[in-house]
Amino acid sequence: MPKSSATAVAHPNIALIKYWGKREQASNLPAVGSLSITLDALRTRTTVSFDSSLAADRLILNGAAAPAEQPRLISCLNALRALAGSQDSALVESVNDFPTGAGLASSASGYAALAVAGAAALGLDPRDPRLEEVARIGSGSAPRSLFGGFVLLNNTPSGTHCSCLQPPQDWPLQVVVAVTSEAGKAVSSRDGMTDSQHTSPYYPAWVETHEADLSQAQAFIAQRDFLGLAELAEHNCLKMHAVMLTTRPALVYWSPVTLACMQKVQELRAAGIPVFFTIDAGPQLKAVCLPEAADEVAAALAAVPGVLRLIPGGLGEGARVIPADG
Ligand code: PMV
Repeated sequence: MPKSSATAVAHPNIALIKYWGKREQASNLPAVGSLSITLDALRTRTTVSFDSSLAADRLILNGAAAPAEQPRLISCLNALRALAGSQDSALVESVNDFPTGAGLASSASGYAALAVAGAAALGLDPRDPRLEEVARIGSGSAPRSLFGGFVLLNNTPSGTHCSCLQPPQDWPLQVVVAVTSEAGKAVSSRDGMTDSQHTSPYYPAWVETHEADLSQAQAFIAQRDFLGLAELAEHNCLKMHAVMLTTRPALVYWSPVTLACMQKVQELRAAGIPVFFTIDAGPQLKAVCLPEAADEVAAALAAVPGVLRLIPGGLGEGARVIPADG
């Protein structure tokens, strides 16, 4: 096949009901379902070019080779090639407009953009549901970034299945990301999850109580019950961090600044401001709020000593093909 390429953009997503742990390593199947919101403020742009004259797959991430990412990338490209019946190697050029590997879900947007751009380059439908599996091979949270707004990842006996619960405009929450460190994380989610599964005494309780959190969150979203969702999302986030903290060796993804931001958000909510926090495998805090509170939340977080910068934004669309010069 001659050279064929396509470009896609995708946004990271943050889970309000998290996933942590796998039920199967090889195909990266999660132990639990999850529920996320897709962010519009952060963006990955990826071009995939399949070319029969290339000797091997190659990744250029943010302008440089990224050998550590190569095995996951090749597994995803193999899955795409199998769907399309292609044997060509690919050049993948991907750029994030935000810190990579620092708890801002760059792998979610990265692998969602890769799946969509790669599918389009191979002549597959970029909305083919099988792309959920391709994206999941790269990152367990990546299939969620194929969709916009509020996204449910259902953990089914045969795999996973994502759906959009509500598009961004139906409940236009705002998200203020407080960046507290630009450094990459010390322990990847993938390694951290495996350690948690094997060593945290709280891991079984995390899995057992998860389904109830997921169904309650869906009810709060359907009813637009912000305060119900706020209390539940913080609880679910802290439950995941309790598993992380009780892993051996301990996974402490917070910094003192993360903790100061958490306290600030709880202070704001106690004072009647509709906001809650969530934190993933990194020190950044994501404050989720109703639109009318966004300016006040941003001002309060900007004043927390150690916050490097804020990334404010709303809810975003799912991964999509764009023109090569877009
Ligand atoms: O997508 P992964 O495999 O890197 O895992 C992400 C896990 C968390 O971000 C901590 C939680 C989640 O559900 O996004």
